[in-house]
Amino acid sequence: MDVVVTEVAARTRFEARVGEALAGHLEYARLGGKILLTHTEVEPAFEGQGVGGELARAALDSARVNGLIVRPLCPFVAGWVRRHPDYVELVDPVDRMRVMAAAKVD
Ligand SMILES: CC(C)(COP(=O)(O)OP(=O)(O)OC[C@H]1O[C@@H](n2cnc3c(N)ncnc32)[C@H](O)[C@@H]1OP(=O)(O)O)[C@@H](O)C(=O)NCCC(=O)NCCS
Repeated sequence: MDVVVTEVAARTRFEARVGEALAGHLEYARLGGKILLTHTEVEPAFEGQGVGGELARAALDSARVNGLIVRPLCPFVAGWVRRHPDYVELVDPVDRMRVMAAAKVD
């Protein structure tokens, strides 16, 4: 499935589209040099097909490019980071214990 993720800064979120359809979004907030990833939601018709993962990857890649420290407050993103250790270095040290503990719930 072709998932295209774009940042929509006016809505402080990343949006995932499959063709014309809005398949999901990831909400964030900016605080100084940090980005708080607060909530991920995928439309029921698109769940379980990698859309959430593409949103998480796009938001984290953007944070890396922009030199931002990531606070993965959304439990889905925390679990995704734990499964993709290349991204752990982006995570605010205060959140790292919680991210690694996400292994126990997903
Ligand atoms: C959670 C949600 C965003 C996942 O999106 P998705 O597109 O179905 O996810 P993907 O297909 O990319 O990834 C599925 C993976 O996420 C994991 N996952 C699913 N729901 C999860 C959750 N609530 N928390 C952590 N991990 C979750 C699955 O175990 C799966 O892992 P795997 O890749 O190791 O098999 C989506 O199901 C959703 O919108 N749920 C309702 C809202 C919600 O609970 N949001 C999360 C809290 S902010």
